[in-house]
Amino acid sequence: MLKFFIQTYGCQANVADSQAIANFLVNLDCEQVFTENQADLILINTCAIRDKAEQKIYSYIGRLAKLQKQNSLLKIIIVGCIASYKKQEFYSRFNFITFVNGAREDKNILRDKLIEVVMLSQSSKNVLDIDLKFGGIKQEKKHSTQAFVNIMTGCNNFCTYCIVPFTRGREVSYSSQEILEKIKQDIILGAKEIVLLGQNVNSYKCPKSNINFASLLEAVAELDGEFWIRFVSPHPKDMTLDVIKIMAKYPDKICAFMHLPLQSGSNKILELMNRGYNTEKYLEQVGWVKEYLPHATISTDIIVGFPGETEKDFQDTIDIIKKIKFDNIFSFIFSPRKFTKAILMQDDLSYDQKQARLDFLQKLQVDISRENNEKYLGKILKCLVEKEAVNGMLLARSSGNHTVLFNGNIELIDSFVNINIDKVSATNLVGSLIK
Ligand code: SAH
Ligand code: SF4
Ligand code: F3S
Repeated sequence: MLKFFIQTYGCQANVADSQAIANFLVNLDCEQVFTENQADLILINTCAIRDKAEQKIYSYIGRLAKLQKQNSLLKIIIVGCIASYKKQEFYSRFNFITFVNGAREDKNILRDKLIEVVMLSQSSKNVLDIDLKFGGIKQEKKHSTQAFVNIMTGCNNFCTYCIVPFTRGREVSYSSQEILEKIKQDIILGAKEIVLLGQNVNSYKCPKSNINFASLLEAVAELDGEFWIRFVSPHPKDMTLDVIKIMAKYPDKICAFMHLPLQSGSNKILELMNRGYNTEKYLEQVGWVKEYLPHATISTDIIVGFPGETEKDFQDTIDIIKKIKFDNIFSFIFSPRKFTKAILMQDDLSYDQKQARLDFLQKLQVDISRENNEKYLGKILKCLVEKEAVNGMLLARSSGNHTVLFNGNIELIDSFVNINIDKVSATNLVGSLIK
């Protein structure tokens, strides 16, 4: 039996692709292992979003050379976003790599390669016609708590800092019928949380019907079963009140959680980023969320140190953060990326100055997150139990996407529980199980 290990970097799109590859290999009678040195095949799913991410992946691959020396039969396959544009570089820099397949390439090429690798190592009787885009249909092993469902691929927005449209190609929505079929399967197999994925989910448009994102969300919420629905990421440029009204209509199914990437609080910078909205429009959307979903949490992404960001522009970002009081912020220093327009923009700020802005923002957000979390002290939250936490407690997630730790039996994994919140920090909530 061939043993495979998958190392996944990057966003949920990569997580979904890795899940699909794992399902495919399991259906070919292979076994997934969770350390590199047990594996006959190592897959690395790469991310190109920032230079730091990219460098980290190269050093990881470099370290695999040693394993390859010990086991000359070990196969190493690189997939994902860096593989979209650095195929030759991978082959020349790491001569022990077996195969490279970029995120934009035809998935059948990867599929055929995987089948070849499996055939060489075992006589699989089970070469099914499985579509890697959506993962294995026939899957006997137990499902993970969350099912990641790509509703589209690629992106057409060309934000001036972003490499994704180049690594993933143009935006293509999948058919709503295929999506709903996949979700029904996931629910039958035991998934308790359906995560709808796309770089800009709310520009979803079914190629075969007039279903848009709001109506797709409603169709998923109408499916039978006890499960939650989340989606990442909507784009403020395309956010409509319809989506928020659907969320409010299905409070038991659709999580009260909105990750709405802002990027900057300065209209000048938003324009230079080609984001297609201004802060006024963004604040209006946050207002909709607060009005229709008063218990919802809101998180965002912020880039600091974009070319041309003055102290005043940065202050505008700080002001809007103080005004909205996000529950969580993913913040990054601008990283110049190949192919993008921003790489050519004049950038006068030193890296240290950018780092100082990031530190300031993150410190402020720790205080805001803790303050927001204090509202939950003494409250009971319905949570979905995901796994064991490192400290031996169980890790659950609330509808608002809080990490909630509590003591309980591991048999509770995959089920919904009610937890009384006793303690909070900026990053998580700690509570006790209500029997
Ligand atoms: N499609 C999503 C974002 C996907 S990338 C959206 O448009 O909101 C996730 C986040 O990485 C982005 O929101 C942005 O904050 C950050 N990011 C993307 N490119 C970056 C770059 N070149 N430098 C720093 N951060 C970047
Ligand atoms: Fe990148 Fe912008 Fe597309 Fe998001 S919307 S993936 S930031 S180009
Ligand atoms: Fe990274 Fe590709 Fe996602 S660049 S963030 S894995 S789309």
